[in-house]
Amino acid sequence: MDLLDRARAVRERAHAPYSNFRVGAALRADDGRVYVGCNVENIAYPEGTCAEAGAIAAMIAGGARRIEEIVVIADSASPVPPCGGCRQKLAEFADPDVPVTLASRDGQTTRTTVADLLPGAFNASHMDGI
Ligand code: THU
Repeated sequence: MDLLDRARAVRERAHAPYSNFRVGAALRADDGRVYVGCNVENIAYPEGTCAEAGAIAAMIAGGARRIEEIVVIADSASPVPPCGGCRQKLAEFADPDVPVTLASRDGQTTRTTVADLLPGAFNASHMDGI
C-alpha cells in the first residue's frame, strides 16, 4: 500500500465532528517505516490537532527522527495545502527538498516541497548562541 492509500485510509478515522473536514497524513520516515495521523478535534476548539501533527507524533514515538516524504489528503474538491502551523512542524523534521504531496478526495494531487511551503523558515541559524 503506498503513502496515498495509507493517508486515505487513516483519514477515515479522523475525529472531525465540528468541522466535518477530515484529513489524513502518511509519511515515510528515515527508518523506512510509514507513520500515519488524522485530525482529532475537540469541543474546546483550539485543542484540536491536525493530521500532520498526529503523523509526526507517531513518527517520534516510533523512534524515527526525519520525514523523507509525506502525503496529506483532505475532504476537499482540490488538494488543500497544510496550515501554517503544520508547515512549521514539517520544517522541524524534514529537509527543505522533502516532497509533500497534497491530495483531494477524488484523487487529484499536487506535488510541492517543504521549502516551497515555508519560504524563509525560522530555524536554528536565526538563534545565535544556542
Ligand atoms: N487540518 C489538518 O488536519 N491539517 C491541515 O493542514 C489543515 C487543517 C484540520 C484541522 C481541523 O480539524 C480541520 O482540518 C479544519 O480546519
